[in-house]
Amino acid sequence: PLQPIMIQGPMPIEAEYFAALLDNVNIEYSGNAVFYRGTLDGYPIVVAKTGKGLENTAAATAIGIERYRPRLIINQGTSGGHDPDLNVGDIVLGERSVNASNFKTQKLAKGEGSKPFQWLPMDLMASEKSAGEGSSAKDAEKLRFYLGDKTLIALASSLSSSYKRGKVVTGTIGSGNFWNNEIDRIAWLHKNMGTSVEEMETSAAAQIAHAYHTPFLGIRVLSNNITNHGEYDPTTAKDCQAFVADVVKAYIKSL
Ligand code: 5AD
Repeated sequence: PLQPIMIQGPMPIEAEYFAALLDNVNIEYSGNAVFYRGTLDGYPIVVAKTGKGLENTAAATAIGIERYRPRLIINQGTSGGHDPDLNVGDIVLGERSVNASNFKTQKLAKGEGSKPFQWLPMDLMASEKSAGEGSSAKDAEKLRFYLGDKTLIALASSLSSSYKRGKVVTGTIGSGNFWNNEIDRIAWLHKNMGTSVEEMETSAAAQIAHAYHTPFLGIRVLSNNITNHGEYDPTTAKDCQAFVADVVKAYIKSL
C-alpha cells in the first residue's frame, strides 16, 4: 500500500478546511488528536488535528507515525511574526525549526532577580546525561535546529507566485508554549535564535519526525505580527491550508 502524506494542524481552524478537501474520509481518535484519513487526487492523506502546543503535537506525531507510517509530514498553521519584514498573510517555509523555549538560567542568588536576556539555550538532545549539571552540561548549551525537507521546500517555493495572500519565504520557525507580546523579547529571540516567526508546535513535530527518520516540513502563515502592527487575522489559517493543499497536489503529481 502507498504510504500516506500526513498534514498536521493544531486548532480546528487550522485542520478542518484541509480535512474537508479529502474524499472517502474515516475519522479516528487517539488522546487529544483526531486523524482524518482520506484521499486527495486519489492519493492517501492523513490530516491530524493535533491540539495546541508541544505536548499534544509530539504525542500526535508519534502516534501518527506508528499508526499510519507517513512518507512525509507537514506541520502547518498560524504564527506570530518576529521579522518586521514579514506581514500578516505571508507564509514561512521552515528551512529550520527550533524549540525557542528551552533554557538554562544563570546562577543568581536570593535577591538577584531573574535576567531572561542572559538565559542560555539548552539542547535536551545533546546527550543522555544531565543538561543542567555535570560533565556534559556545557555541551547542552546550544540551540538545536531541525531542518525542513529540501525537496519539499523547493517544490513549495516554486508555487509561491500562485499564493495571492502574501509572499512565501524560507525561514526559521521558533516553537514554545508561549505567546510573546514583549517587543524587546521578540527582538531578542529574532537576534539570538534567528526566528522568523513563533508558534507552539513545529519543533515538537520536527523532533519526533527526525527520531523516526520521517521527512518533515513546517509551513506557517503569519496570523499576527506585533513587530509591525500586523493585527491578528484568523482567516489566514484557511489560506495556509489552501496553499499547503496546492503543495501536496504538486508533490503527488511528482511521484
Ligand atoms: N505566538 C504563539 N503562538 C501563535 N500562534 C499564532 N500566533 C502565535 C503567536 N504570536 C499559534 C500557535 C497555537 C495557536 C495559539 O496559534 O501555534 O497553536
